[in-house]
Amino acid sequence: MLMFRMLQLLYGTLVAGRSRSLRVLIPLCGASKDINWLAEQGHCVIGVEFVELACRQFFIDHEIPFVEKAMNKDCTIFKSRDAAKNVTLFCCDFFSADKSIIGAVDAVWDRGSLTSIHPNDRGRYVETICQMLSPSTTYLIETLNYDSSMFGGETTSQYSMQLIVPVAGPPYSLPLDELTSLFAPYNSTVEQLSKHYGTEAWHKRLAATKNVFSITFHA
Ligand SMILES: C[S@@+](CC[C@H](N)C(=O)[O-])C[C@H]1O[C@@H](n2cnc3c(N)ncnc32)[C@H](O)[C@@H]1O
Repeated sequence: MLMFRMLQLLYGTLVAGRSRSLRVLIPLCGASKDINWLAEQGHCVIGVEFVELACRQFFIDHEIPFVEKAMNKDCTIFKSRDAAKNVTLFCCDFFSADKSIIGAVDAVWDRGSLTSIHPNDRGRYVETICQMLSPSTTYLIETLNYDSSMFGGETTSQYSMQLIVPVAGPPYSLPLDELTSLFAPYNSTVEQLSKHYGTEAWHKRLAATKNVFSITFHA
């Protein structure tokens, strides 16, 4: 099943009964079609992506007029000029973004974003995103899970100097227990919403599963 379809299936959970226009963050958004789909639902979509070409491509692909404005030397804003589609893409390194730049966020659609970050940087990613959230923020995340040791590839001493963990990717495998412990310091609970086998050849070879989780934050 396509993940674009997955967003449509889980849309009710993302919105959680709120009828107003939400500020939805898509971290590491690339030129994702999900940006356009969420904007079509009437939401204010905020993306963060450090490849300028991808930011520009999104607006070209969807024929949305836009303006480009340098915020500072490290961040350029790409903003829709179409009143019917409220999209702002921050072209910057995600790790340099914070609430003063992004603003408050009502919902997060994290599709393959945390899993595209090197495992050594996961804690920093979660710390960066959590300071943009409030207890009412809904957070849906799609991850991949596979046995990294089957992949070969590089090794990392991500957890301790003694434990050398083979990793492969991106996308990197992210098991539920690690996801839960990454978000645990932020007073959260993680619930699995869906799980199915990936359809690409390498997914099949490694029996990789695609998983969607809901992360709930508590006051
Ligand atoms: C897997 S891709 C896009 C996933 C996207 N969420 C989707 O649904 O299609 C990951 C994207 O993250 C971007 N990226 C990786 N590291 C980044 C960083 N530190 N800051 C901003 N963007 C980053 C890459 O350029 C790439 O476009």
